[in-house]
Amino acid sequence: MNQLSPLRQFLPCDPHHFPPILPRDYTFSTMAFPINRLRRLRRTEALRSFVRETRLTPAGFVYPLFICPGEGIRKPVGSMPGVFNLSVDEAVKECREVHSLGIPSIVLFGLPETKDEIATGAWAEDGIVQQAARAIKAAIPSLLIMGDVCLCEYMSHGHCGIVEHVNSPNPETEYEIVNDASLELLAKTAVSQARAGVDIIAPSDMMDGRIEALRTALDGSGFENIPIMSYAAKFASGFYGPFREAADSTPSFGDRRSYQMDPANAREAMREIELDLQEGADMIMVKPALSYLDIIAEARIRFDVPLGAYQVSGEYAMIKAAAQNGWIDHDRVMLESLLSIQRAGASIILTYFAKEAAKLLAKHC
Ligand code: PBG
Repeated sequence: MNQLSPLRQFLPCDPHHFPPILPRDYTFSTMAFPINRLRRLRRTEALRSFVRETRLTPAGFVYPLFICPGEGIRKPVGSMPGVFNLSVDEAVKECREVHSLGIPSIVLFGLPETKDEIATGAWAEDGIVQQAARAIKAAIPSLLIMGDVCLCEYMSHGHCGIVEHVNSPNPETEYEIVNDASLELLAKTAVSQARAGVDIIAPSDMMDGRIEALRTALDGSGFENIPIMSYAAKFASGFYGPFREAADSTPSFGDRRSYQMDPANAREAMREIELDLQEGADMIMVKPALSYLDIIAEARIRFDVPLGAYQVSGEYAMIKAAAQNGWIDHDRVMLESLLSIQRAGASIILTYFAKEAAKLLAKHC
């Protein structure tokens, strides 16, 4: 399975058609112009809507929230207009709105009071995400709460795992993100989130073997019915910049390239997904979205599980910034970007645009 599927040669085509219905050398032009005029079906909105292949709906939207300590806090994130750090009480209010807009799910990130080298805030029973999950579950029981499971927001050094410093002549290997020891902390985090009412566990750390570790820990604690949505193909991306401001999680040294994926690798992405599924992931995710539509399309063809994509902070910030400058039409580009992610094959979309897009879609329907 670690080779590109032979089906890939059929792309671009509708990735929902499996097996492909046309041979590779098929051409649509056997009866060419003037018999064929594709513009016939584009003349009116009624016709265009009639033949539309993809319909964007909020039914698969997930709205990310950044939870901070305190009360009555709604602190804007500079690089992400419209996104805030919210205290638990404000997050509950936000969730009521999210729910009323027909958005089925949120994903929680936490800004802990203090950070250390074992990410205590990630797995503490009264951690910030755990507090938020309890409050949100009590207020809006049918809203699906997804918990991002990672350590970076809770580590003083900002890495996604435990760091060990080693003597090395090569500056690249002067420190190591220790894989197996980190799994224990991640597993504790997942269990504490499940205990707090999180409905879906979403690990984003990219340690090897994390899905198995989380599945085993969840099952061992009586949470065999809590599904895992794995950030299976998560790339080391420059598009995470604004998130690190929002979640205060920039690594204090080095970068994440020794655990997140090389943006050049599509085959390896398929291996990552396959391994996560073997380890027990129920759903998979590709992240970021817009620069990785090929990965989404290929994953849709290969794997028959629910597929998500994360339209990340930098994708959001770019659209906001260009629109603020008057260079693009905000609403149009927002919907086009989301539509393209859905068209590529993702039925679940994590997006900071969830509320705005849901409002707009409701108006048009
Ligand atoms: C935590 C995590 C990150 C994002 C989601 N979970 C940051 C990172 O990996 O650096 C990024 C989301 C975004 O940019 O919107 N590991």
